[in-house]
Amino acid sequence: MDLRRHEHLYYVMDAPEISDAQYDALMNELKKLEAEHPDWGTPDSPTQRVGGKPAAGFKKVQHSRSMLSLDNAYSEEELADWDRRVHELAGNLPVEYTTELKLDGLSVALTYGSSGNGGSSTLRTGVTRGDGQVGEDVTTNVRTIRSVPISIPAHAIERARLPQGQGFEVRGEVVMPEKAFLRTNADREREGLPAFVNPRNSAAGTVRTLDPGIVATRGLVFFAYFLLIEGEYFAAGQDATLEALTTLGFRVNPHRGRVHTVKEMMKFIEKAGEDRETLGYEIDGVVLKVDAHATQQRLGYTGRAPRWAIAYKFTAEQAMTQMEDIMITVGRSGKLTPTAMLKPVFVGGVTISRATLHNADWIERMGLRIGDWVKVERGGDVIPKVAGIVEDTEHPRGKRGFAFPSKCPECKSPVVREAGEADYRCVNVDCPALIRGTLEHWGSRGVMNIEGLGEASIAALTEGGAVKSVADLYKLNEETLASLKQAVEREGVKKEQRVFGPLEIKKLLDQIRKSKDAGLARVLMGLSIRFVGERTAELLAQEFGSMDAIVDASAEELERVEEVGPRIARSILDFFAREANRELVAHLKSAGIKMTAEKKQRSTQLAGLTFVLTGTLPNLTRDEAKAKIEAAGGKISGSVSKKTSYVVAGEEAGSKLDKAKELKVPVLDEAGLLKLLETSTAP
Ligand code: IVH
Repeated sequence: MDLRRHEHLYYVMDAPEISDAQYDALMNELKKLEAEHPDWGTPDSPTQRVGGKPAAGFKKVQHSRSMLSLDNAYSEEELADWDRRVHELAGNLPVEYTTELKLDGLSVALTYGSSGNGGSSTLRTGVTRGDGQVGEDVTTNVRTIRSVPISIPAHAIERARLPQGQGFEVRGEVVMPEKAFLRTNADREREGLPAFVNPRNSAAGTVRTLDPGIVATRGLVFFAYFLLIEGEYFAAGQDATLEALTTLGFRVNPHRGRVHTVKEMMKFIEKAGEDRETLGYEIDGVVLKVDAHATQQRLGYTGRAPRWAIAYKFTAEQAMTQMEDIMITVGRSGKLTPTAMLKPVFVGGVTISRATLHNADWIERMGLRIGDWVKVERGGDVIPKVAGIVEDTEHPRGKRGFAFPSKCPECKSPVVREAGEADYRCVNVDCPALIRGTLEHWGSRGVMNIEGLGEASIAALTEGGAVKSVADLYKLNEETLASLKQAVEREGVKKEQRVFGPLEIKKLLDQIRKSKDAGLARVLMGLSIRFVGERTAELLAQEFGSMDAIVDASAEELERVEEVGPRIARSILDFFAREANRELVAHLKSAGIKMTAEKKQRSTQLAGLTFVLTGTLPNLTRDEAKAKIEAAGGKISGSVSKKTSYVVAGEEAGSKLDKAKELKVPVLDEAGLLKLLETSTAP
C-alpha cells in the first residue's frame, strides 16, 4: 500500500512546473509591455484571453467516440419507467446497475499512449467534451491537475488487465472543490475580475484558460468514470471499469454502489442527498449505469444519450431574499424579458443575484412590488426563478409598484402584445437589441457557426453602424474591421484602441466566408423566424429544397411538412410577407450564401400502414425498427386495434401479441419486417 501511495504521489504530482514558469514569465513581460504602450494591446493579445472565452486558442480534436449526454429522471416513477424499459430491451441478458454521484463539473477525455519505456503509458491529450463530437485540446492545462496521472507504470497496466502496448482513453469529470472555488473568486475580486457564478463555471473557465500557470493553482480535481480502448468501452463492465481505473492510479469517486432494484436506487439517492452537504464539491444528482457491457451494447443509444444510463437529478432548492429592482431585456425575437434583481442569496450551492420573472401577467397577478421579499428557486442547471412572494411581520411588502413598460427599453418604440400571447414584444426591425440578438444567433454554434462573432465583437460591429443586418456581415472587409475603434481605460488614461487585431480580422473574415456553405437549414434557422428551430428548419429544407420555394410557399404547402401546423405556417408567411425580410434574403443570396438543400425522396412503400412493435427483436433495437418503418412511410402505434396493419413481435412479446391473435392482425418477426421493407410484400 505504501509503495502504491508513493508511486501515486510521484506520477500524479509530476506537474510541468518549468514550462509553466516560463509561460508565466513571458506573460508577465507582455503584460508589462502592454501597460507601458496601451496602443499596442489588441483583443487577440494573450493577456486579454486569460479568464475569458478563448476565441480560437485551442486546437479542435475529434473524439474517438462521441461524448454523449444523459437522459434525466426526476422521480422514483421515472426511474421505474427506465428500469422497466431496460429490462424489456435487455431480454435475457443480465441487468445490474452501478450507482455513481453526478459530479457537477465538466467532462474531459484523456488519452494515453505507450511511452516505449518498459510498457508504461503517458498522457498524450486532454480534450474537453465540446459539442460531443469535437472538443478542445486542453492538454497543457489538464497536465497541471494533480489527480491526472502523467505516466502510468507498466505493472499497473498489467494489474488492471489492460492490453499491453496499446493506447487507452479515460473519461471523467473535472470539478472544483468548494474551498478552491471560494479562493478563486476571492483572488479574482482582488484583481478586479468578475466572479464565477458557481464551481462548475469556475472549473470550465479554468480548464479553458490560456495560462496553465493559473490552472495549476486552482485546485481542480479529476474523477475518472470511463475507460475506452480503441473507442470501445472497457468490456468487463462499469464496476470493473471503476476498479481498473483505481488500479491505474486515477481518482475514482468513493461514493458508489451496485444495485438491482428501483428501491435500492432510491436508497442510494437518499444517502447521496444527505452526503451532498459535506462532500466539499458539488453534485447535482446520481448517475445509474447498467453494469454489464453486453447488456449496454444490446440497449444501445438514442441520438444524444445511452439507453443504458440515466441521471437522477436532485430537485430545486429554495431560498428567500429581497427583490431590489426589475430589469427588462430585449431578445432577438423582440421579446421583453423581465428579470428580478435580488439581494445576493446562496441557494442550491451558488450565490444568485438575478432570477427570471416569467412574464408581465405573472408579475401583475402576483402584484409584485419592488422591495418585496421573494422565494427563489434553483433546480440543477436551470436558471433560477422567482417562485412567489413572502409576506409576514418580519418581511413586509415592498413599497414601489411595478408597471410593465409600454415602450421598448432599447429603442423606445411602443411594444405590442398579440391576442393570446403572454409576452410583450418590440416589433421595430431596426431595434438595436433585435439586431444584436439576431447577429449573435446567426453566428452561434449549430447555426452559421461563425467563431469570433461573440457579444463584444457584435457590439463593436453594430455601434459604429458597420453592420445593420446579418447580410452586412458578408460585406465586411479588412479595411472596415481595422478601422473599428473602441474606448478603453488603462491606469486612469482613456485611449482609443482597435477592436480587432490583424490576426482576428483574418480569422473572422475566414469564418464568415466559410459560413456561406452552411446550407439551407442553417440559414433558415439563422433568420430567427418565430417557431422555426433546428428540426423545423431541417424538415422545411428537405421538403422544399430551396429558399425560393419556401419564400413562395402557401400555407397549405407549408403545412404539408411534418410538424408544421397553422401556427408555424403563419409565422413563416408573416416573415416573408415583410419586404425587409425578402430583401434580406436577396442580399444573402447575392453574397453567395448557399440557399439550397437536397430534397428528400419520400419513400411510400409502407404508406397507409400502421405497425405495433412488441418484445425484443434479435438484431434491431426498437428505435431502429421504428425508424425503418417510418422512413418507408409507415406509422407506429402503441396499441393493437382493428386498424393495425401488422404487429412486429420479438422475444418475450406480451399482451400485444395476444391481442393481435385475437383480432387476427398479421404478425411479423424481424425477418418478415425486413422482407416487407425490401420487397413491399409480407412473407
Ligand atoms: S457518464 C454517455 N458519469 O453528466 C455517458 N457522467 O448529464 C455520460 N457527469 O456529460 C457520462 N458525473 O459531464 C457520467 N458519474 C458520472 C458523471 C457524469 C457527472 C456529467 C458528464 C456528462 C453529464 C451528462
